[in-house]
Amino acid sequence: MKIGITNDHAAAQLKFSIMKELEENGYEVVNYGTDGTQAFDYPEAAIPLCKALQNKEVDLGIAICGTGVGISIACNKHKGIRACCCSEPASARLTREHNDANVICFGARIVGEELAKDIVRAFITTEFSHEERHVRRIQMVTDIENDQL
Ligand code: RB5
Repeated sequence: MKIGITNDHAAAQLKFSIMKELEENGYEVVNYGTDGTQAFDYPEAAIPLCKALQNKEVDLGIAICGTGVGISIACNKHKGIRACCCSEPASARLTREHNDANVICFGARIVGEELAKDIVRAFITTEFSHEERHVRRIQMVTDIENDQL
């Protein structure tokens, strides 16, 4: 599985820890975020990851800013992106099962390193359920995105 990761200036250090963990576990990781601590606007960080997902260059995405909120809002403005901002692994698992989320977001100033790794692990190891009610609801979200609802 190929995973894209992105971040603003608040999250470079946490990004590197997560990349290391993923690579040690055999995942291919593509880094789209900033590697420094100079101010880097979270909407800018969201764009290359979302484009890579739209172009199917990566399978799933991880997006981190200070709170996780700004970057999740920015990701969710891209067509076909379903980004979930959360601070614990249960939501990360359920958003894959129920929402077929393709980006997980969290805040480097909100969750610690080990919790962040647990969130990522839950997200990338869970499959979408394909249950009819979830497929239908996701289609409704897509219809909203396309001004058809
Ligand atoms: C940057 O200071 C901070 O605003 C950003 O990382 C994020 O928390 C925004 O939602």
